Amino acid sequence: MIITIDGPSSSGKSTVAKLVSKFYSIVHIDSGSIYRAITLLAIDNNLIHEKKVNIQYLLKCLEENKISFKKKEKNIFKICINENFIEKRIRTSEISNNVSIVAAIKEVRDYVLKLQRKIAKNQSVVMDGRDIGSVVFPNAKYKFFLDASLTNRSERRWNDLKKNEKDISLANVKIDLNNRDILDTNREHSPLVVPKNSIIINSDNLSIDQVTDKIIELIK
Ligand code: C5P
Repeated sequence: MIITIDGPSSSGKSTVAKLVSKFYSIVHIDSGSIYRAITLLAIDNNLIHEKKVNIQYLLKCLEENKISFKKKEKNIFKICINENFIEKRIRTSEISNNVSIVAAIKEVRDYVLKLQRKIAKNQSVVMDGRDIGSVVFPNAKYKFFLDASLTNRSERRWNDLKKNEKDISLANVKIDLNNRDILDTNREHSPLVVPKNSIIINSDNLSIDQVTDKIIELIK
């Protein structure tokens, strides 16, 4: 069973995907966390200057460091670099503001694609991201696209970020989210699209639980 949930930034994909995976007792993979981990490697190794990435060195870093998912609780797998959990470090606005340029690199996407398909080779999975139903698993039986207005998505993201970044403003979060959506939608390789045969759900007036119930109902 492969369930794909795509959508723009902060549309609630990961939260819903986690709940759907819990309902079916299958694994949830947040594919954005892989791109965030690679961005963390790039930043830690000083490989991003003026929004340009040193691709050659980044690929070397990917050879020398192991990015993987490790079990945290039942069916909850979290991203690791060299077996260390990095969840908190990949959720900062610094990572968010650089991840889309890293995710636009063809070689990076090829690396991530291999990892994603390997994970789903022998097990059922709910995977969320931008290209899961279109490129990673185009033949998946259950495909969803979650959407919401930029205003609602920005507010959700701001509420999350301000727990750790007290000075962050809603206006800046909105600008960053919009920039990321523009980059993700217009990039050459695997852009954010509504995948063929996917069901679109707008979550503007729905709670997380309502979206989750709707997906489970549609799968049934
Ligand atoms: O989902 P999240 O906001 O954590 O994703 C971070 C970034 O990773 C996205 O803005 C996008 O640039 C990239 N991404 C992607 N393809 C995916 C998942 C995420 O390009 N399947």
